[in-house]
Amino acid sequence: MPDPLGIHDLSFATTEYVLPHTALAAHNGTDVAKYHIGIGQESMSVPAADEDIVTMAAAAAAPIITRHGSSQIRTVVLATESSIDQAKSAGVWVHSLLGLPSATRVVELKQACYGATAALQFAIGLIRRDPTQHVLVIASDISKYDADSPGEATQGAAAVAMLVSTNPALATIEDPSGLFTADVMDFWRPNYRDTALVDGQESINAYLQAVEGTWKDYTEQGGHKLDEFAAFCYHQPFTKMAYKAHRHLLNYNERDTDKHTIEQALAQTTTYNNVVGNSYTASVYLALAALLDQADDLTGRPIGLFSYGSGSVAEFFAATPTPGYRHHLRTQANRDAITRRTPLDYPAYLALHEHTLPTDGGNHHTPTQTTGPYRLSGLNNHKRIYETR
Ligand code: CAA
Repeated sequence: MPDPLGIHDLSFATTEYVLPHTALAAHNGTDVAKYHIGIGQESMSVPAADEDIVTMAAAAAAPIITRHGSSQIRTVVLATESSIDQAKSAGVWVHSLLGLPSATRVVELKQACYGATAALQFAIGLIRRDPTQHVLVIASDISKYDADSPGEATQGAAAVAMLVSTNPALATIEDPSGLFTADVMDFWRPNYRDTALVDGQESINAYLQAVEGTWKDYTEQGGHKLDEFAAFCYHQPFTKMAYKAHRHLLNYNERDTDKHTIEQALAQTTTYNNVVGNSYTASVYLALAALLDQADDLTGRPIGLFSYGSGSVAEFFAATPTPGYRHHLRTQANRDAITRRTPLDYPAYLALHEHTLPTDGGNHHTPTQTTGPYRLSGLNNHKRIYETR
């Protein structure tokens, strides 16, 4: 029997600032209950002018390198849908900031919010070929919609870094996976825009179709029965979506959809996303972090993960916590990443939202705002310049 494969370590980082939904509601006259209850969001992470997907990715991954070193890392896969360059992988800057060995392959992967799950499966395939290597998978994203659009309340930003290896300390990733792809235009971002376009209702319908499609394939591939799962981590563009998704899955399986059953399956998976907002590729892994940080012992109990990327590609699979996993969690650091953020008022948030980097190729410095370990210090001749603080 081959050694189990999966997540050996998991670390999360988010931004310097946070906008409470109370401030957004006061600005646009919305009843705040629509945000708190209707979509299930309390606040959203907002990046400082000198933060981006690279600084968040490096901040998420640095504690993993401190704990495990980098000598076994042969591959870095960075998944994002808020990419900063059409050619160079954001992971190469992260590789440099972390001081990783030159004998490393680094690549960026994209398929909307699904990209990190593709990266995880890619990592598993590589480790099957060479079980001595570790793969660093990083999901890093900034979710941004136009101000005063319906999507604005579902913004957010975060990075999750995962070390993937044999005999993982946190959770094994199991076969089979349930897969689903459908060509839909529910959410997209053309190359000339820095805010996403979305057909809100279409995106919710497409997501629910994907839940059904992946589950059908998962059961046909011989996966676990529904009742065998201890909890379900869904991609959470807003946390209420996980509730819609799980109710849909239960209905599809002709199961009881009482509130208590659904709460039990989901409540502990939503606490980080509820205050961070949509972190696209990182979202489902942030749900997993929240669950592992809060739940009683889940050793040996399968957790269902549903990863959805608009456009659309989705995957349903199981992760099973390994004996002793609770000793390897980063619960305090994860909570600190959330509580250290500075709240913004609406005008300060809007100024950051509308802030764009100059495109004239000149020498520009970004204001020092972040207190995180890495910052984007500026641009020179169209080149991004990063520094370790
Ligand atoms: N008190 C309590 N609840 C209230 C309320 C109040 N005062 N007012 C409204 N609500 C409820 C509504 O009943 C509704 O709940 P249900 O969906 O359960 O009926 C909910 O609040 C939202 O209300 P609306 O549908 O009227 O809100 P909206 O028109 O502003 O749009 C949205 C909501 C479509 C999610 C919008 O925020 C959006 O477009 N977001 C971006 C797209 C998105 O996240 N799609 C998710 C699937 S796609 C995906 O997952 C990929 C990805 O990451 C983007």
